[in-house]
Amino acid sequence: MRSTTGWQAEGTTKLREVQIPRRDLRRDDIAVRVDHCGVCHTDLHAVRGHKGDDLLVPGHEFTGVVIETGPDVTAFRAGDPVAVGNIVDSCGVCSMCVAGQENYCREFPVLTYGGTDRHDGTTTLGGFSREYVVREKFAYPLPPGLDPAAAAPLMCAGITVWEPLRALGVGPGMRVAVAGLGGLGHLAVKIAAAMGAEVSVVSRSADRASDAMRLGARDVVVSTDPDSTAASRDRFDVLIDTIPVPHDISPYLSLVAMDGTLSQVGHLGTMTVETMDLLLGRKKLTSSGSGGLAATAEMLEFCAAHGITADVEVLPSARVTEALDRLERGDVRYRFVLDLSDLD
Ligand SMILES: NC(=O)c1ccc[n+]([C@@H]2O[C@H](COP(=O)([O-])OP(=O)(O)OC[C@H]3O[C@@H](n4cnc5c(N)ncnc54)[C@H](OP(=O)(O)O)[C@@H]3O)[C@@H](O)[C@H]2O)c1
Ligand SMILES: [Zn+2]
Ligand SMILES: [Zn+2]
Repeated sequence: MRSTTGWQAEGTTKLREVQIPRRDLRRDDIAVRVDHCGVCHTDLHAVRGHKGDDLLVPGHEFTGVVIETGPDVTAFRAGDPVAVGNIVDSCGVCSMCVAGQENYCREFPVLTYGGTDRHDGTTTLGGFSREYVVREKFAYPLPPGLDPAAAAPLMCAGITVWEPLRALGVGPGMRVAVAGLGGLGHLAVKIAAAMGAEVSVVSRSADRASDAMRLGARDVVVSTDPDSTAASRDRFDVLIDTIPVPHDISPYLSLVAMDGTLSQVGHLGTMTVETMDLLLGRKKLTSSGSGGLAATAEMLEFCAAHGITADVEVLPSARVTEALDRLERGDVRYRFVLDLSDLD
């Protein structure tokens, strides 16, 4: 068994630097030196919901360098820049996996942290650590030209919004709204605009309007202003809802056009839907999580071709608790990324 240094949740408010185990490389594994790991709101949910007896090392969007390869590895060599996201294994044989949607594996995909390893049954420990061991199949070459720190958030925030935008056929002539201008939201704006759509942001205030325009949006709908939402009624073919808390989706469905779709990717859990909000306009409600292997590779290529990365604030990993606290307050434009080199 190898070991590395990582940030483990202690209670629900703090993380502590500890030695954590990493498995010895299997034949198709690579070991990655983690250089940069984004801080996703899911990490915040995980830490705040942490039960004392679970071993929790968050972090599921990271970039780094391959430092070692198992004997059967063909796609990577030591020294290669690499990116890893929020899924690190799947059964490989179910209909979802065969369809290239490993993210919907019927045996449930193995998550980068808090998942259960398919071979030894251990709990996976995430990228807030200096080293990660992963099957080569679930690692991606980092395209040249993408800044490694700013590219790290593509691996969760980016792919999470890419999946619905692609699945819903977003392109020129489509009107797309993005609710919640945070980590996922700001990448949704950039990607949808690069796909050729007319993009609007739905935000709680107009404070971020100039940022929204710079990111590629045409305007901002202020969700707390009834005049603003009324003016955009039935307007959007696609609405990507990234709001991280339980909320009434009725006002958001009112913004969706006839036959349009609201994709709820932000709050995962129970929600109440007034079916009349769907009936009036034959509207659709959907959700998704992450993306398959091929889609993730395609997303990275698209982002490299269009020069898309996250707007990041890079912090030494020792400031992880501060990053989580500020993320909770919405005090980030638009993604914290931890620099793990301080763990050496
Ligand atoms: N489906 C998946 O696979 C998947 C993957 C990753 C993350 N997630 C989930 O997606 C959500 C967003 O993640 P993120 O990292 O983008 O979070 P984030 O950076 O905190 O952004 C969320 C945005 O939502 C808005 N918001 C925050 N609190 C709100 C509230 N109480 N009411 C209304 N709007 C609020 C804010 O935008 P404004 O200030 O513009 O209103 C905020 O910037 C989280 O719940 C996360 O767990 C899901
Ligand atoms: Zn995430
Ligand atoms: Zn499967």
